[in-house]
Amino acid sequence: MDLTNKLYIVTGAAADSDIGLAICQKLDNCGVKLILVGRREHALQETLSLLKGKEHIVCPFDLSELQNITTWAKSIVTQYGAIDGLVHSASFQGYSPLRGITPKQIHQYLDINFSAAVMLTSAFSKARHFNPGASFIFIGSAAGQRGLKARTLYAASKAALSSMVQSAALELAAKQIRVNCVAPALVSGAKAEQQFATLGVELSQRLIEAHPLGLSTPEDVANSVYFLLSDLSRNTTGITLAVDGGFLAG
Ligand SMILES: NC(=O)c1ccc[n+]([C@@H]2O[C@H](COP(=O)([O-])OP(=O)(O)OC[C@H]3O[C@@H](n4cnc5c(N)ncnc54)[C@H](OP(=O)(O)O)[C@@H]3O)[C@@H](O)[C@H]2O)c1
Repeated sequence: MDLTNKLYIVTGAAADSDIGLAICQKLDNCGVKLILVGRREHALQETLSLLKGKEHIVCPFDLSELQNITTWAKSIVTQYGAIDGLVHSASFQGYSPLRGITPKQIHQYLDINFSAAVMLTSAFSKARHFNPGASFIFIGSAAGQRGLKARTLYAASKAALSSMVQSAALELAAKQIRVNCVAPALVSGAKAEQQFATLGVELSQRLIEAHPLGLSTPEDVANSVYFLLSDLSRNTTGITLAVDGGFLAG
């Protein structure tokens, strides 16, 4: 499926984000033009250096500044034109045992994982901000579909995302914008290694076994993003597509 010359925004596009980088590489291979978003410019420049396309744009921006997202979106469209879609992969991750939860933590998880997603959807669905057939994708998590100890805030923020795409899909269908979520379980890479180091050998083994097909790779996630951006999924909207090695089937 040809995505040549389409313009997509990818948030969380830093080179040290396994999933964000894999999404950028997949789309780069399809000939699209990317707007790479994250807070650290050097990490976005590193991603740029790993891509083949010459027209990608590095665009550092802090998505927790929710009040600035609409103006920022307008400036993007003014400079680079209407977008064909976006992939919101940026997130705040971690553990939040109930005994120590603070209001600040609640904001950290919800602001970037959910509220920024809503503001991006609102901003880029305004007239002249998107091209017909645009596709908006949010990287959720299997944690949003199933309880996980010490993950209350992360899981709730991702569940909110899955709910949001359903309502947004209904509202934006009239504008021919599709809105979907891709929900991985544990993905191989740096985050998985960190988790294994915290859990120890026995619990790590149990976690791996909870994925009957094995852990997904960042490329598995990127392939599903590609599917949902492309016309292959032209009649699919409002879904959460699990990329979880069977984690949720158990
Ligand atoms: N890794 C997994 O096993 C796994 C499993 C299920 C779901 N997921 C989801 O998949 C997505 C990618 O995961 P990952 O582990 O590859 O991510 P990651 O390495 O944690 O990367 C997150 C990215 O978000 C950016 N970011 C964070 N806060 C931001 C902000 N306020 N404004 C702009 N950018 C911000 C960070 O770059 P800067 O620091 O430069 O801003 C970073 O590049 C996330 O949505 C995650 O929840 C991951």
